[in-house]
Amino acid sequence: MIEDSHHRKHDYLRISLTDVCNLRCFYCMPEESYDFTPMKHLMQPEEIEKIAKTFVDLGVTKIRLTGGEPMARKDFGDILLRLAKLPVSLHLTTNATLLSQYINVLKEANVGSLNISLDTLSSEKFQFLTRRDKFDLTMQNIRLAMDSGFNVKINMVVMRTLNENEILDFIKWTRDEPIEVRFIEFMPFAGNRWTSNQVFSWKEMLALIEEQYQVFPLTGELNDTAKKYKINGHKGSFAFISTMSAPFCAGCNRMRLTADGKMKNCLFSKDESDLLKALRNGESITPLIVQNVWGKAESLGGQFNTNFSDLKNEDIENRSMISIGG
Ligand code: GTP
Ligand code: 5AD
Ligand code: SF4
Repeated sequence: MIEDSHHRKHDYLRISLTDVCNLRCFYCMPEESYDFTPMKHLMQPEEIEKIAKTFVDLGVTKIRLTGGEPMARKDFGDILLRLAKLPVSLHLTTNATLLSQYINVLKEANVGSLNISLDTLSSEKFQFLTRRDKFDLTMQNIRLAMDSGFNVKINMVVMRTLNENEILDFIKWTRDEPIEVRFIEFMPFAGNRWTSNQVFSWKEMLALIEEQYQVFPLTGELNDTAKKYKINGHKGSFAFISTMSAPFCAGCNRMRLTADGKMKNCLFSKDESDLLKALRNGESITPLIVQNVWGKAESLGGQFNTNFSDLKNEDIENRSMISIGG
């Protein structure tokens, strides 16, 4: 098992398949122009398979595919079925807009959870946040995912003055549907116009929900990103991802691979190891992986701490979210 210098064991790999997306959420993609990675610099299906296999040999048991939008890749089905042959649980984070095209292949690959990004239940606000008119399509595909028996988690990035007034609407949704809604604190990435006062903290969210409901914490795993809760009588549940006000780095088991084949040991790490280049040069990538994880900072890539009120987006050296994959 791959361990870092803080004794954390790493068995979860997040692979970004592409930085292309068919939505334009401002908190993910820089407002100024963004150049998508040219095809020749992207990991190809057999390269993804080889790199993933090396991670599995080093102890990885869970792989989550991310993007951009992972299903925007024409060869998504091929990649998924290659990874499905590995002894890992396979998961996907998606905006769901292309889901109906791939529903059978997702079943065939035995995909575990489908984490679906949705920040609003209003069609107009969806258009404003994503700059695309795909609200109805997204909702239809969320329905399809639920009806097809997938474990569906809804990721809502909560931003003060933009959508915190919809938290209770999302809670109502969990009454009749077996979904887990995850309320995510807004995080800073290159070009995403983050300001500290837009962070609506998980404590504020919980207080707002507790005004209306009696809630019960659920026990989770050490390396969960989310603090989970339930309301009696609701089929679904909800959770908070509190990176900014209460980071959960002590239990972190995650490694990341960007679509251009660079390894990151943390969402906020500056160090990147070019696994794809090494692979293409015929070198072993194992030492690079082991070294990269060993150098992982204790929390938040060593870039900031929970006193983020004076933090400026420019203070953090990182990629944009769309090129990391979340
Ligand atoms: P599960 O595998 O279902 O636990 O999903 P996940 O929460 O690990 O992943 P998902 O892709 O659904 O991401 C949900 C939110 O959590 C996004 O905003 C991610 O950026 C954030 N997230 C995922 N992994 C990490 C992490 O390691 N650290 C931090 N700080 N945030 C993370
Ligand atoms: N802060 C928090 N979460 C974000 N995501 C994208 N950008 C941000 C951000 N700035 C979420 C998406 C997606 C997940 C991979 O990351 O909503 O669900
Ligand atoms: Fe792990 Fe970095 Fe996320 Fe903390 S911020 S949980 S160390 S990936």
